[in-house]
Amino acid sequence: MDLFAQPTLEEAKAQDCAAARVKELTVLINRYNQAYYMEDVSPVSDFEFDALLRELQQLEQRFPALLSPNSPTQRVGGTVNKTFRQVPHRIPMLSLGNTYSIEEIEDFEARTRKSLGDTPFSYTCELKYDGVAIGLTYRKGQLVQAVTRGNGSMGDDITDNARTINTIPLTLNGDYPDDFEVRGEVVYPYEAFAAMNAQREAEGEEPFANPRNAASGSLKLQDSRETARRKLQFNPYFLLLPPAEEAAAMARWPHHLASHYSRLQWAQQMGFRVQPYVQECRNIEEIKNYIDRWDKQRWELPFGTDGIVIKVNQIPLWDALGLTAKSPRWAIAFKFKAEQVATPLLSISLQVGRTGVVTPVANMKPVQLGGTTVKRATLNNADFISKMDIRLGDSLLIEKGGEIIPKVVGVELSQRSQGAVPYQFPTHCPECAAPLVRAEGETGFYCPNRNGCHPQIIGVLEHFVSRKAMDIDGLGSERLELLYQKGLVRNAADLYALSREQLVGIESVGENGERRTSIQDRGADNLIAAIEDSKQIPFERVLFALGIRYVGEVGAKKLARYFKNMTALQEADVEEIATVEEMGAKTAQIVYDYLQQADSRQLIARLQAAGVQMAVRDHGDGAAEMVLKSGLVMRGSDKLKGKTFVVSGTFARFTRDEIKENIELNGGKVSGSLSAKTSYLLAGDKMGPEKQKKAEKLAIPILTEEEYLQMVAE
Ligand code: IVH
Repeated sequence: MDLFAQPTLEEAKAQDCAAARVKELTVLINRYNQAYYMEDVSPVSDFEFDALLRELQQLEQRFPALLSPNSPTQRVGGTVNKTFRQVPHRIPMLSLGNTYSIEEIEDFEARTRKSLGDTPFSYTCELKYDGVAIGLTYRKGQLVQAVTRGNGSMGDDITDNARTINTIPLTLNGDYPDDFEVRGEVVYPYEAFAAMNAQREAEGEEPFANPRNAASGSLKLQDSRETARRKLQFNPYFLLLPPAEEAAAMARWPHHLASHYSRLQWAQQMGFRVQPYVQECRNIEEIKNYIDRWDKQRWELPFGTDGIVIKVNQIPLWDALGLTAKSPRWAIAFKFKAEQVATPLLSISLQVGRTGVVTPVANMKPVQLGGTTVKRATLNNADFISKMDIRLGDSLLIEKGGEIIPKVVGVELSQRSQGAVPYQFPTHCPECAAPLVRAEGETGFYCPNRNGCHPQIIGVLEHFVSRKAMDIDGLGSERLELLYQKGLVRNAADLYALSREQLVGIESVGENGERRTSIQDRGADNLIAAIEDSKQIPFERVLFALGIRYVGEVGAKKLARYFKNMTALQEADVEEIATVEEMGAKTAQIVYDYLQQADSRQLIARLQAAGVQMAVRDHGDGAAEMVLKSGLVMRGSDKLKGKTFVVSGTFARFTRDEIKENIELNGGKVSGSLSAKTSYLLAGDKMGPEKQKKAEKLAIPILTEEEYLQMVAE
């Protein structure tokens, strides 16, 4: 195809036509999106909406020149950033003075009143959103940049990820300044956060500790498609103009720009979702009422707040009040204290997880905390109980801070009854009665009976079928439980022996004892097909799917790369397994033990006989392959055998981990520091000058990314 060929007259005409339709569709879809995400109404059915979006996608595909980065089709993400560009803030992003004390709020108010003398003014009170601060720049009504707070002067350019957040308008409505910034907080609403964490746990990944960390992590994901799945929300709290344009804009839109409150309302008209809880307050009484109200009602909000922010409302007064070293004198934050209550510990129950780990859970006398009734909280492990010296009958202190999950933070010793004795951790599994084991150096106990302990069997199966493992759709925990109860599935290999006849018409018993047909014809066909498809899942994911303790996605990948097939791994001794990157001595021993056990050997043999991949895929030339986050597939070789690389800086095609993995895929080794043994320094962008100097001194050749690619190319 000749890329520089002129379009024919017909094509040009078609493109003009398409351009008009693209414009029309963009306006319509933006309007519907706004109604849905900002005003919680749906003017059209999902079906109609999808049809419009699909039409726009098709036009953009056919005429790539018509695709704008702010097209509503770009909400789903798709761009990959290896690193985030650091960019300066045109207006520094300050932080706020904050306090837990009402007296200090009274002082702030009195001080402000005194400074302003006779000038009439008011305050805006709003919630302090518990998330991540970002600044959005709009030019001519288009979103052009999104930057994190960073150190206040420079932040990370996260525009691609921000575009996927539905409450960030990509194009603005109505009237707006030519060039301005909207700042606010990206929060992770509780419901979406809980759903995402549940999915992470089901897939064997570490859950996020709280919505704030999760929001921050989600903004820094390299793949914006993943950010799009996270359902973040943007809450604006500032509308700012570059200093050079402020005066002219104030003269042009005095009603909109004069006060902070009116600016937020203007932002709402432009298409932002401004929280309805913003309130103008005229005096300290109104401020205190606002604080009181939200200290109680904050738990009813769909997202986290950790306090309230009070700002002088009249913007022209901000200059007069000025700044202290790092925060403005015209605003202050009042922080809510974490709520704490004491309640009696009635009993401790034990939960057994997929890997056999036994987690003690406190059952407490129900108590109101932060708007919900709390009756259970985790006690983490045996060490936690003994360190806190928690005894049955004690009053436990529980706290709910910015997080939703209540935490046990201590024991109310003054309320301990005389006869209370230290808690003895049970010696046997509550599910299967097997004696519990505590490995050296571990904080708690686990049940070793993985093939005979119900929650472990179901947990292992859930992990096996999960998205990042064998990705078998249609097998939720209920269905797995049902297949287990019917005696059809006891372990992962049994899945591959299931027949359509066995599945169709399987009945479950409902809550009221009624019988329900759980699997119909179509469901059975789909399930059999999904199980069949899983035979194509690469070896590294099969290894991960086995659910060996401490072998996560990365560890499984490293093992697969190193040993290439299951037989080699099964024949390896502990020492050899421990040489693989990511495998500490402890994990190596666990992997070794797992592979030596007769039941694991039998399971693996049955999986292999069923056709599950037990070797890295071979294209006839023995080459393994890796799929980069960008979707690019790279084949391996042994071209780098015997060569040791040091990697520095950032790369255009790879993330740092990917380029290291690629070196290993081609038989090379990666080392952290330069020495006489280093064969090459692989230099990306922004490599430190020290590294370069040292390489030159040791006469180590420096490779660019391009040179590296040539080296491994066929
Ligand atoms: S105003 C000049 N308003 O709290 C001060 N900040 O130190 C600009 N925050 O990291 C902040 N909700 O991201 C303001 N309604 C709100 C806020 C808010 C949350 C965050 C902000 C900053 C910290 C203040």
